[in-house]
Amino acid sequence: MKIEKLSVRNFRNYECEEITFGENTNIIFGNNAQGKTNILEAIFLFSHGRSHRTKSDTEMIKFGSDFMKLCLEFCDSDREYKAVLQLSKNGKKSITINNVPITKLSMLMRYLNVVMFSPEDLQIIKGAPLLRRHFLDEAISQLYPVYLKRLISYHKNLAQKNNLLKKMRFSGNTNDGMLDVWNEQLSDDGAFIMKYRADFTEKLNSFSSDIHKEICGEILNLLYTPSIDCDIIDKDNFYNKLSVAAEREIENGSSLYGIQRDEIRFFIGDKEIKNYASQGQQRTAVLSLKMAQTELIKDIRGEYPVLLLDDIMSELDSLRRSYLAGKIADKQVILTCTDTDSAIGKTSAVYKVENGGIENVSASRK
Ligand SMILES: Nc1ncnc2c1ncn2[C@@H]1O[C@H](COP(=O)(O)OP(=O)(O)OP(=O)(O)O)[C@@H](O)[C@H]1O
Ligand SMILES: [Mg+2]
Repeated sequence: MKIEKLSVRNFRNYECEEITFGENTNIIFGNNAQGKTNILEAIFLFSHGRSHRTKSDTEMIKFGSDFMKLCLEFCDSDREYKAVLQLSKNGKKSITINNVPITKLSMLMRYLNVVMFSPEDLQIIKGAPLLRRHFLDEAISQLYPVYLKRLISYHKNLAQKNNLLKKMRFSGNTNDGMLDVWNEQLSDDGAFIMKYRADFTEKLNSFSSDIHKEICGEILNLLYTPSIDCDIIDKDNFYNKLSVAAEREIENGSSLYGIQRDEIRFFIGDKEIKNYASQGQQRTAVLSLKMAQTELIKDIRGEYPVLLLDDIMSELDSLRRSYLAGKIADKQVILTCTDTDSAIGKTSAVYKVENGGIENVSASRK
């Protein structure tokens, strides 16, 4: 998978710019707050349908403008794609790929695969369980659009169930037939999601443990710990667990079990990373995790994703940097940094970003 060209109009601090990418490492450098991450954000939007750093789409429209328009040209081994994303100030968003309107996120995700790696990713290890579920959900959704459909359906039904539980708790009514209806539906989607999570974590674990050992010799282990603990993951076991918990859930006024309470735990040896590991060990674990995700995408889709590395060189020591340099040799990489000295890989293009302006300085830097 290769990204060829990005054009942006009224996006963040850019008015109207265009940038072309080569097949190896593309370096985007510049001082702080000049627009480097904005470029990666624009690309990320085409693979995930949303920004990696803001919840509100309209925040991305350039201050004082009514709309933004992004255009991305990319290809995989089969064909060329031209994707266009437009967003107006009233929140209306449209995406087309080769002129075909994309109406669902699950449609978009099957086209462009990227793996973003930024300093905030440390939170996948250190942060709340929600962030780990989020990482897993996005990684699986990129590869299996049907998973995303089930996830959306599950969360819709969960919101309905929680509303009902709140009402039941308030009214003292302990017998509402709708609770069973929601539990049935949640069990169907929930067991499906659990199976995918379990399977994906296992595959990710087999890649990441090898990668991690190669980087630093330590044993990294990922463990999927579902909220509904059963020997066989299926709808009936899920449903039984919810049925048994119904009384307590009504008392509580909210759901107590389900995929919204799953956890993914990271271990080095038998020690849980978030409690024991140093900052450097945590960073290395994230590096292994992201590289494992990259390999898994290649394994399943037959093509490497594009790697978006946001200012991570300064975070890695020379050992990890040289490991990464070796690993990216056969991949397209778009990386941001404040100075080109810390860039890695075989350089395809070098861009200097200054106050929303992009200058191609490849010739003078190679
Ligand atoms: N909607 C917007 N309109 C105009 N400017 C914006 C908008 N949103 C963000 N910006 C500006 O874009 C600038 C560049 O942001 P970006 O995150 O890309 O910087 P960066 O070069 O990655 O910096 P750093 O090295 O600190 O990470 C910031 O100064 C920010 O104020
Ligand atoms: Mg940045």
